[in-house]
Amino acid sequence: MDQYIIKGGNPLVGEVTIGGAKNAALGILAAAVMADQTVTIENLPNVRDINVLLQAIASIGGEIDRVNENVVRINAKGVRPTSVDDVFIRKIRASYYLLGACLGKYKHAEVALPGGCNIGSRPIDQHLKGFRALGADVRIEGGMIIADAQKLRGAHIYFDVVTVGATINVMLAAALAEGYTILENAAKEPHIVDVANFLNSMGANIKGAGTDVIRIRGVQSLKGTEYAIIPDQIEAGTFMCAAVATKGDVTVKNVIPKHLESITAKLLEMGAQIEEFDDAVRVVATKRCKPTNIKTLPYPGFPTDMQPQAAVTLALSDGTSIVTESIFENRFKYVDELARMGANIKVEGNTAVISGISGFKGANISAPDLRAGAALVIAGLAAEGYTCIDGIEYIHRGYEDFEGKLQSLGGMIEKVDNDKDIQKFKLKIG
Ligand code: EPZ
Repeated sequence: MDQYIIKGGNPLVGEVTIGGAKNAALGILAAAVMADQTVTIENLPNVRDINVLLQAIASIGGEIDRVNENVVRINAKGVRPTSVDDVFIRKIRASYYLLGACLGKYKHAEVALPGGCNIGSRPIDQHLKGFRALGADVRIEGGMIIADAQKLRGAHIYFDVVTVGATINVMLAAALAEGYTILENAAKEPHIVDVANFLNSMGANIKGAGTDVIRIRGVQSLKGTEYAIIPDQIEAGTFMCAAVATKGDVTVKNVIPKHLESITAKLLEMGAQIEEFDDAVRVVATKRCKPTNIKTLPYPGFPTDMQPQAAVTLALSDGTSIVTESIFENRFKYVDELARMGANIKVEGNTAVISGISGFKGANISAPDLRAGAALVIAGLAAEGYTCIDGIEYIHRGYEDFEGKLQSLGGMIEKVDNDKDIQKFKLKIG
């Protein structure tokens, strides 16, 4: 299996360009199935989760024309809302967005029930609650979610928790329901706004995305469109943390600074200097960072998807920090791996008490999930000596050319798949 071999100690310096937002793209690809004509999507991140969802769309009859790595054309006229096979759901939970898309367009959808994953149980009760409120009969049979409706009628839906997935999934179905839907306690992430803007570019009538009340007036049908996906705020934040952890100077390009506000605020508290431009941020950290406390919250709070990357950076600070994970119940699995590099972190429930150390020592470690994997790469880049990370297929789910972008910043990292290549890397780097 592929691994990363990293020689730490080089400050990251230079410019990196951020790709399209994975978590916007997943909702947008599902929404493309709802159009009656061809949809062209640009700034598509070329990552595994996106490619799996495109395979799932093809498996139900969608015509996929991959113009290039970052542009795709989708025509759904051949789609039959037959079951989205378990293999796709097991690979990526977000295949369940095809529930809302197919229910909205065909008034029928069959998608395998997603299980839990490495960061928590991740129920979908709010998705099903929303579909039922719109008038669908939703049942679970043989591990499949089957949703049917004679017609979908607008409804006033109050989410019990702030949920990105249910907000997107129910918004998809409501876009083609008859009448008026109000989603209360809706998630406000930038990717929710991007999916709503995409649907509106196809002729939907959605207002209020980005606030906690989204108003949707159903329309008869949706037409083809051309659309470019927003930049990925989590990929951007990951490189910002890497700049601070390695005491570097990195300009992160193709970002929307407003989407990074909570991340920027925390890195400033940690002593980084940050300069904002229209579509870029420059992060400079010349000395060891300071401690601070972080609590993950729905947007515009500090994103849970940045929690591991921030914690790794704080593990090198000159004091004690407290990180509280309020969204998922099992998102500290990287702490044991980081301990092998010398980190001093104590996890109690959903809180980690981080006592900063002056430096990590390289070690052999494993990526437990996507964002923790990226965080462990940051640790390896900041460490003294060599670090070997396996399980990097998790990282390829959400980061396009991660090692290539880090190499362009002076990071000494290579993807290898055997010991000989590791030795060759060590001889080359010395
Ligand atoms: C999305 O997951 C993202 N994934 C996650 O990013 C991200 O961590 C999460 O939102 C929070 O921002 C995609 O967009 C593909 P939620 P999602 O529904 O939609 C509970 C990454 O690294 N909940 O907002 O599954 C749930 O248990 C991934 O890119 C219910 O109780 O997250 C959690 O505690 C990891 N019932 C909280 O809500 C439901 O029906 C937030 O979950 C749905 C969710």
